[in-house]
Formats: sequence, structure tokens, C-alpha cells
Amino acid sequence: MTRKIWMDGTIVDWDNAKIHILTHSLHYGTAIFEGIRCYKTTEGLSIFRLNDHVQRLIDGCKIYYMNLKYSAEQIKNAILETVRINGSENYYVRPIVYYGYGKMGVNPLPNKVCMAVAAWIWEGGTYTNSEGGIRAIVSSWTRIDSRSLPVLAKATANYANSVLARIEAINHGYDEAVLLNSNGKVAEATAENVFIVKDNCLITPPLTAGALQGVTRDSILTLAKEIGLTSSVSDFGREDLYIADEIFLCGTAAGIKPVTEIDHRVVGEGKVGDLTIRLATKLRGVIEGKDAKYSGMWLTPIL
Ligand SMILES: Cc1ncc(COP(=O)(O)O)c(C=O)c1O
Repeated sequence: MTRKIWMDGTIVDWDNAKIHILTHSLHYGTAIFEGIRCYKTTEGLSIFRLNDHVQRLIDGCKIYYMNLKYSAEQIKNAILETVRINGSENYYVRPIVYYGYGKMGVNPLPNKVCMAVAAWIWEGGTYTNSEGGIRAIVSSWTRIDSRSLPVLAKATANYANSVLARIEAINHGYDEAVLLNSNGKVAEATAENVFIVKDNCLITPPLTAGALQGVTRDSILTLAKEIGLTSSVSDFGREDLYIADEIFLCGTAAGIKPVTEIDHRVVGEGKVGDLTIRLATKLRGVIEGKDAKYSGMWLTPIL
């Protein structure tokens, strides 16, 4: 089957989903995007936390002065249509809003605001706990600061920072990098939020540390409460990573990634931690539609 992409209301074949080389956002980093997943659940294919992803997309567009011509409802419908038309698979869904082709120059406002939605099968995000942990470093790059770039907007510009940190990690033989902010506190990883466990308490940095308002992060905090874990949203430093009992990263694309080594230090006992497993198991049940309380709240069925 030819994969289809939604482009401003038109369904086009994957190979024909093209834009002009002078598309404004390509040159100036102003596209706003989302990463969403749909999963095969007990009730059929469902999208996880669609409303929250769409709201974050709309918020990002507002921050970047984008006059989005679609309502939240229309964006959700475009996402649902894209998944539906591509068949029933565990898709990663990528809506993107961008300033289109027209007038070059730093000011994007004369250009049309365009939207596209693609869906493809992207491994990861399965919240499995059977895999081993990853090896990470603390990046030599500082996480962008909201005084320079608004971190609440999931803008392509922000990912230049992530790309440099990710390449640095890979070049040093590691899987992933954790970035510190300009105050030396932990912000997040290149495409995931960060959690540590210390003395049975789950800790994640506040958004003011420079972290994206992750949907998975929020799900973890909610589910932690539900299973009786103590959690805290507070700043912590590089050294707290070194003495943590457990560390994991989380995001829609990545799922839950336990970290078992950081900067040449073994994390905890060097294996995937018990709380990480408990949370991953709980989250997996929720996304697979096995938890009635959250199915109504967080799952949108593809009808
Ligand atoms: C920089 C960054 N932080 C955190 C996240 C996690 O966000 P979410 O759980 O909404 O996917 C992502 C995922 O896209 C990201 O790119």
C-alpha cells in the first residue's frame, strides 16, 4: 500500500509529499511539530493523549505568531484521518506546522502557515522493561534557555541544540546525552524528559529548568501518584545523576529508556530499576487500553 500524507487538507502519496526548497521554516527553524503515537489496544487502534499533543502544537504556533487556520477539532480530525487512511498499525504520527514558500527574509509573517501530518512505523515507544538500559553522558552543550528560545514550543530550532548533543554522545560511544541548563541544573535529554529515583522518591526537573512539557512526563507523574509513589518536581544537578538509585528518560518516540551508566558511573545496581519497571508496566497497561480509568481520559479510538 502506498503510504499517504495529509497536506493542508489534501491526501498525497508519500513520494509526492513535497514542498519548495525556499520554504521559509526550512531556512529559519520556525516549524512547530508534534510526536504522537497510536497503539493497538484492546478496543482497537487508539491515539494516546491526542488532546494534549494538539494543545501543545497550538500553543507553540501561538508563541511563533502563526496564524493557524485550523481549529483544535480540525487538527485532531486531520490526525485521525491520516492514521485511518494508512491502515491499522502502531504508528508514530508527526503533525508539523510551518511558514511556507513565499517571501524570504527573517520576518516569516508574510508567508502562508501550512500544516502536514505524516504517520509511519517507528520502533521504540513500546515501554518495554525487558530491554537493558542505555549509556549516557552529560553533554558539553548547554540546554537552550527560554530567554533565547521558548522551550515550551516544540520548534525545529530547538532541535539544533539536541542534534549537537546527540551527535556528541554518539561520537563518544554513548547512546544519549543529558543537557544541563545555564544554571548547571539538569534540564532534559535530547528528545526525552529525565527522571531520577533517589531513596524511593521520583524526581524530575521543573519546566523552568528548560524541559519540554512532555506528555509522557506528565503521564508518569500522574501514574506515580496512582501507584503510591512519592514524586517531586524539583531542580537537581549533575552530581545527583551520579548518585541516583535509578535514572530513566521518557518521551513519545523513545518510550521509557532506563539509563544504567552515566559519565562512566554505574547507575544504582547497573540494571533497570524496580520503580522504573513498575512505572513502565503501569504506563504500558494504560496505553494498551487495559486501564479503564485512563482509557476514557487519554485514549482516542480510531473509528
Ligand atoms: C526535547 C524533548 N523533550 C522531551 C520530550 C518528551 O515529550 P513527550 O513525552 O511529549 O513526547 C520530547 C519528545 O518529543 C523532546 O523532543
